[in-house]
Amino acid sequence: MKPASEDCSVTTQPPPQTGSAAGSVRTLPLDLPAFLTREQHRIHLVGVAGSGMSGIAALLLELGHTVSGSDKVSTTETDRLQRLGLRFHEQHRPEDASPADVIVFSSAIKSDNPILGSARDAGKSIVRRAEALAAIMRSKRGIVIAGMHGKTTTSAMTAHVLREGGLHPSHYVGAEIPILGTNAHWDPRGEYFVAEGDESDGTIALFHPEHTLILNIEEEHLDFYADLDAIEKVFAQLIAQTAGKIFYNVDDENAARLCRSFTRGISYGFGETADYRAVDIQLKDFASTFRVNHRGQDLGEATLNVPGQHNIHNALGVIALASELGIAFEKIAKSLAKFEHARRRFEIKYDSPRFLLVDDYGHHPTEIRATLKTARSVGRKRVLTMFQPHRYSRTKALRKEFGRAFDDAHRVVVTDVYASNEAPIPGVTGQMIADEIVAHGHPGVSYEPRLEWVHRAVGNVLESGDLVLSLGAGNIHDQLSALAADLVIAEKLKDIVGEDGEVCLYEPLSKHTTLRVGGPAQFWVEPRNEKAFAELIRFCRDENLPLFVMGRGSNLLVRDGGIRGAVVHPCGGDFDKIEINGVEITAGAGAKLKEVAYAGKAARIGGLEWLEGIPGTVGGGLRMNAGAMGAQTFENVVLVRYLDANGEAHTKTRDELEVYYRNFPLLEKNFAVSAVFRGAPAPLEEIVRKLEASQEKRRTSQPAARSAGCIFKNPDACSAGKLVDELGLKNLSVGKARVSEVHGNFIVNDGGATAAEMLELIEKIKATARAKRGIELETEVQIVGEPG
Ligand code: EPU
Repeated sequence: MKPASEDCSVTTQPPPQTGSAAGSVRTLPLDLPAFLTREQHRIHLVGVAGSGMSGIAALLLELGHTVSGSDKVSTTETDRLQRLGLRFHEQHRPEDASPADVIVFSSAIKSDNPILGSARDAGKSIVRRAEALAAIMRSKRGIVIAGMHGKTTTSAMTAHVLREGGLHPSHYVGAEIPILGTNAHWDPRGEYFVAEGDESDGTIALFHPEHTLILNIEEEHLDFYADLDAIEKVFAQLIAQTAGKIFYNVDDENAARLCRSFTRGISYGFGETADYRAVDIQLKDFASTFRVNHRGQDLGEATLNVPGQHNIHNALGVIALASELGIAFEKIAKSLAKFEHARRRFEIKYDSPRFLLVDDYGHHPTEIRATLKTARSVGRKRVLTMFQPHRYSRTKALRKEFGRAFDDAHRVVVTDVYASNEAPIPGVTGQMIADEIVAHGHPGVSYEPRLEWVHRAVGNVLESGDLVLSLGAGNIHDQLSALAADLVIAEKLKDIVGEDGEVCLYEPLSKHTTLRVGGPAQFWVEPRNEKAFAELIRFCRDENLPLFVMGRGSNLLVRDGGIRGAVVHPCGGDFDKIEINGVEITAGAGAKLKEVAYAGKAARIGGLEWLEGIPGTVGGGLRMNAGAMGAQTFENVVLVRYLDANGEAHTKTRDELEVYYRNFPLLEKNFAVSAVFRGAPAPLEEIVRKLEASQEKRRTSQPAARSAGCIFKNPDACSAGKLVDELGLKNLSVGKARVSEVHGNFIVNDGGATAAEMLELIEKIKATARAKRGIELETEVQIVGEPG
């Protein structure tokens, strides 16, 4: 092993200084290119899990070094590298790095990192990631792909085309590229090294490539650069250090201005002045075709299987470069047609006739506009976007541009900022971006600060024909994946309930309960007939998906976190049917009990008038043996039809059923389909009188405000309402939940109450009844779901 020696020449120039660890870096005199590519050493990488660092680790392993690395997280990438020989440590401990001759560190690592500290004390060579990359590149004929947008795609495309062209290039790109196999690869057979240059911290000025490809230049990374001038200076240095040709996008104003005067410049673009020009462009859903013209000469047609006009520009740059390297156009065109996208670049996560879910890494306004333009051109009905701003500094600096970037989205849900390695800036949140988009005049914007709820906000407004796009460089794609996973199930549920039925994702149950509280149902499903209901039961059983059946939600308190699994609401179709046969009324589980009472009136069937006062459905009334006016459901029910846990239908007569006060155990694990109610012939006047008595009783003794009916079962000795009244608890409130002043057994929602408030109030009442009367109140209202 050759130690770093004094007589080796220094070939790296001092890296530009940043606010992180750079201030403390010492680069010892060292022929770094030879050290890294012609010798074999022990090298430790600090922050090895980062996307750029893992590429360096892969190259160093392929170059035969003994490589160790540390990071506070392990990733699938570090797992893969471990299989290739990386010694990985999930902590930054100096002793793990002490055998190393050189330390390479990521720009995300702070200067007080213990490994950097101890390496400094030991006088070791410490190099930045970009320095290591620049040094590795110097031992080959370097090709740098630079620019603000499209670097990863274009560098991957370049490596792919050169590889197919038989040039055996080595490569280093910023993301996992399926078609290349890995994000970095050292090929000893080839002369070229293709690398994505990172302009974010000025380190592209470290490169001395043979050729440079400049995609575009604009204001970005304003945490590091003062302005566009400062950015252009760094690009100008890269250009000056390029020995061969400069390929540049002539349609990008800044790139063109900077490169035009350069004698070895080769331009590409759509305009007539371009050396390599695309004509006859045809944009399709996920592809495009165009002809390529080189200084007036037609080279042939190219097909690109990655969408968007911006990718035609990227491909033109690659065509220009590969042509100048001597690869025949036919060969270039053939390999371009095979090129697949990098991960997180318009990556299709879910595709069905009803929905298309796409993830994109776009986090700069220009990228967002380009991606949304592509999304629009796909031709789906609407484009719904979930956006996670990336870095506080960018959010603040480009907020106006972000405000104008979403014109092509029908709906935008913005979540909070992904910090990356930045500390928060006071007042800078996702709300700032949402406000800017609104101020720009966009009608469909909302802010959801909780990242884990973003998929719900988008999923709940989803309609057949929509394209959903997740945008951002942080972890917003997890939300798209969560939506995709639920959509797989939702689509199967939709197939079960058919065209007539309804399936919604994340339906707020506050819309479906009389109390108007409750979080969302993961899957809200409305079957219209017994067959679909039975099939749903079997599907949920087979998929291990929780199933909860809900009627009108009149005796229900759903917690704020909502209900996981399928919430089945049998309604419409067969479930709303009411049929009269003599003195018997057959009613579907979704029919309202009130309607049964009125059907009785129409057919002169008495004895059912009390049902007028029950706000629920037949299914709900059966489930809890609801009662009013001294009567209860099973005094009138003579037959129940239900589905068992396997979806099999059964019919039972009243004498076969076990029924208790506010409790019908059969429906704890089975599901009501319909019931037959029996009354007795009665004169109309008598029926009307009883109906009016019931209405009068409700009007005078019960609140009209939003409630779930009686909250507690009546204890043996007394009425719960009377008890609460006597305890002086009327009007007691928690937040917007309040004990009704009309009836002590009702809790009313004064507007916007939460389930948590309701539950706290219930507990207070129970505690008082226990303490003062020794009575254990039992809730009659059904409490379900997850805490918020
Ligand atoms: N009372 C008070 N103060 C109050 C409430 C009631 O003094 O704040 C007295 C009443 O004056 C009456 C007695 O308590 O003397 C019983 O009250 P009520 O007649 O209203 O009957 P309840 O037992 O409280 C039951 C059902 C109601 C149903 C009514 C009317 C239960 C738990 N409640 O109420 O059902 O509407 O009878 O028939 O069985 C429901 O189940 O959700 C429901 C509202």
